[in-house]
Amino acid sequence: MKGIILAGGLGTRLHPLTRITNKHLLPVYDKPMIYYPIQMLVNAGIEDIMVVTGGSNSGDFLRLLGNGKEFGLKRIHYGYQEGEGGIADALNTAREFVGDDKMVVVLGDNIIEKNIKKAAADFKKQKKGAKVILKEVANPKEYGVAEVVNGRVKRIIEKPKNPVSNLAVIGIYFYPPEVFNIIGKLKPSKRGELEITDVNNAYIKRNMMTHEILDGWWMDSGESKDALLDANILVKKSGANKI
Ligand code: G1P
Repeated sequence: MKGIILAGGLGTRLHPLTRITNKHLLPVYDKPMIYYPIQMLVNAGIEDIMVVTGGSNSGDFLRLLGNGKEFGLKRIHYGYQEGEGGIADALNTAREFVGDDKMVVVLGDNIIEKNIKKAAADFKKQKKGAKVILKEVANPKEYGVAEVVNGRVKRIIEKPKNPVSNLAVIGIYFYPPEVFNIIGKLKPSKRGELEITDVNNAYIKRNMMTHEILDGWWMDSGESKDALLDANILVKKSGANKI
């Protein structure tokens, strides 16, 4: 299984912190943010990793991470997203890298307390379709929100004004290689982006989506300045990526 970390975007919600650097290079306690998703993949036994960046700071990722020696990796693959076409568009950059493999896609600002070992093992055995991970949150309006009926995800609503549940769809997604056909058929959303939630809803419509509830805390550390501060404090207090 391949691992893809999406670390592009303009990070406008964090201005001026991100005016001259990429959000995923900002510190979260004692490490740059991007270290956490890389370690999460390595802990799950996924060592074939591509980091997709974009914009004028993309070269800094190579300077920071090199071949990934600090994580015990032999090499890290790098992808470059042209423009700001959204999460699903960024994923498209990894098409050739993924080939005929399954993949786990991680948003570069997502940090978890524990690990995704069980979800990854379950997805390896899954015959078709995709898998998402859900987590109860206090502020569902900021995320993709899942409506779960009879143990199955019925739909996902992106940043709803009136959330149907408090189950956020976290930024760790499992897909089969044919996800690129779905992305190819997507239309840009109102904000002009190819939305990962539209990809997930396509699998739900086909009845090909499974889900798990995450154990331990989850932080979308780039969601706001307060989220970034909370992530720093949580990581200092309890550590992240526990096996
Ligand atoms: C993205 C997704 C959203 C998801 C979130 C998790 O939102 O669109 O569905 O819940 O990541 O981190 P963003 O943080 O890019 O606004």
